[in-house]
Amino acid sequence: MTKAEELQLVRGYFGANISFFFARSVPPEYRDVLPGTAGFVPGIPRLGIPNLIETDAGDGIANNLMMRPNDRATALPSSIAAAATWNPGLVAQAGSVIGAEARDRGFNVVLAGGLNLMREPRGGRTFEYAGEDPLLAGTIAGAMVRGIQSEHVISTLKHFAFNDQETGRSFINVKIDEAAARESDLLAFEIAMEEGHPGAIMCAYNRYGGTYACENRFLLTDVLKDDWAFPGWVLSDWGGVHSTVEAANAGLDQESASRFDGVDFFGAPLEQALDEGKVSQVRLHDMVHRILREMFAKGLMDHPPVRRAPELDKNHAVAEQEAEEGIVLLKNQKNILPLAKTIRRIAIIGSHANLGLLSGAGSSQVLPIGYDPANAVPVGGAVVRDRSGRIVSLGVQIYDPPSPLAAIASELPHARVRYDPGDDIAAACALARASDVAIVFVHQWMSEGWDVGSLSLPDNQDALIAAVAAANPRTIVVLETGGPVVMPWLDRVPAVLEAWYAGGGGAEAVTRLVFGDADPSGRLPIAFPASEAQLPRPQLQRGREVDYFEGADVGYKWFAEKGLAPLFPFGFGLSDTHFTLSGLQAEGGSTITVHVTVGNDGAVAGKQTVEIYVTPPEGPPRLAGWSKVDLKPGEAQTVAIAADPRLLAGFDARARMWRIAAGDYLVSAGTSSASLPLQAHVNLAERDIRP
Ligand code: BGC
Repeated sequence: MTKAEELQLVRGYFGANISFFFARSVPPEYRDVLPGTAGFVPGIPRLGIPNLIETDAGDGIANNLMMRPNDRATALPSSIAAAATWNPGLVAQAGSVIGAEARDRGFNVVLAGGLNLMREPRGGRTFEYAGEDPLLAGTIAGAMVRGIQSEHVISTLKHFAFNDQETGRSFINVKIDEAAARESDLLAFEIAMEEGHPGAIMCAYNRYGGTYACENRFLLTDVLKDDWAFPGWVLSDWGGVHSTVEAANAGLDQESASRFDGVDFFGAPLEQALDEGKVSQVRLHDMVHRILREMFAKGLMDHPPVRRAPELDKNHAVAEQEAEEGIVLLKNQKNILPLAKTIRRIAIIGSHANLGLLSGAGSSQVLPIGYDPANAVPVGGAVVRDRSGRIVSLGVQIYDPPSPLAAIASELPHARVRYDPGDDIAAACALARASDVAIVFVHQWMSEGWDVGSLSLPDNQDALIAAVAAANPRTIVVLETGGPVVMPWLDRVPAVLEAWYAGGGGAEAVTRLVFGDADPSGRLPIAFPASEAQLPRPQLQRGREVDYFEGADVGYKWFAEKGLAPLFPFGFGLSDTHFTLSGLQAEGGSTITVHVTVGNDGAVAGKQTVEIYVTPPEGPPRLAGWSKVDLKPGEAQTVAIAADPRLLAGFDARARMWRIAAGDYLVSAGTSSASLPLQAHVNLAERDIRP
């Protein structure tokens, strides 16, 4: 390769063919070959190196600015819903849908695999991430990447690291000591890397330890490339690069969409830095080697994408299955659910339930199959259009069809299923009163770019629920949220389902769960606080710095350390059937191995997630493993779970080593971090583990 060819591979362009951006971004010779997309790195035909054509992201093939006006894709459940399945095999299948739909469109890089831990539940991208626990989040994000890459497209993990809030995301400095970082957010990435072998990792916008993530030698070189031996390449987030020499020498391998950075840092300035010896030729070779290595390793050379019509029915079935397993039944007093199919009059209230289920916004926004742009719900101000009339503002809510109203009506063809938008509370109550049951859909919309102001449902929806529940005690609440919300009305309603942003299979999934066609098997991948006062940071941090003084005690660990009772604990979710746990056995040695028996002694088939927590001699319990078991009534199964030894250890930053302390470890088995009926003790000897 010539130097010019090498340089070409380390600098990317914004791929949007929206007039304003387009004019300045992609070089003219590529414009005709490029579908509108997030990013583009021109290939080298002389050497048979294909273009890298990058698309977002984790909820399906995104089309956030309507860059491809008629391109609708399968909308999968958002990543937090994927985490709520606790089913990595299913998440990998969903990933393969994303990978396949990328290939079908000619894309060969998917910018999916979001897993920043939920340290700020108001964070606008909470829905794009996989919850608060390093093992669960890492396993789920890794499974997603594995699935995507099974289709011979590269997937990234992102955003490396600590991009947990949108407020001040492009400058905020995260303060956390190294040991705590290694035991929490970095461990999540480490596990996801091992599970998914991503071709690339996207560095984040924010700073860590005073230095921008995309020029942070500690993160990119010391941890990622040295300790974890990551063979792939680091690409920047869009607008995340601030330097040439520092970034290149710290470990950044490719500048994405350089137009977003203001300066083409890895363009002419990198060439100059090479000439001046400020960046070595060896380093440039390393960047290029990493990119090409992964293009070969993941099959981009041997199996280039071929444009064709996606297999929509097959993909929809996966989306529906994932939604079904990700929806969490939070409350079910007196077994009001499942509803009998003989019910005659059903009120469907609120949240545009006549259109679909809400999706999260920002770069990951999918234009879902069956979507009619006339059904975009404008939010807070004008819709911004470009000169050709296309919507380019992110300020619209998109509800993924089909609607729950239609799905429920088709499930119960003989019932009278009526809809009220919920804007006029009196009208909604009148409908509820005249119905046998009321299903109230409520939402909290999240988007990349801004954080939600609070964990309360917006737009008077708390009052709507309380009033409808007073009008008809048989009121079921379906939450469409990207993260936790507070529920001042919880005591007044008999049933609550957390549907997250459930995607295009969501309406059918909700219907099947409500009417007992499937057993709810979603479990919370985050704790829901009872109030914002319980959080380490009751207020969103709006300054230049955020101090993670809670260290590795994220989410349920924080609640345990502080003795706080959350509204719903991590790992929690109800079933229609009844499970028993028995016979816990725990063995020590190089790690802790657990056997436990789970039985279904209820009346219907269902899936239970057995969760194993380990409490080391010091500090709160940690999720050390789980198993999701599918059982018919009367069936039982014994599962074996071996803890990842890093989850038993602390990180010694000075020795750069994981260290298991000698002593007594409490092993608990149960069905949430707060319901651990079985316990055993194991004594471990001291042991060091290399990172
Ligand atoms: C987001 C990334 C995304 C990129 C490309 C950025 O704003 O932070 O997650 O992949 O845009 O759309």
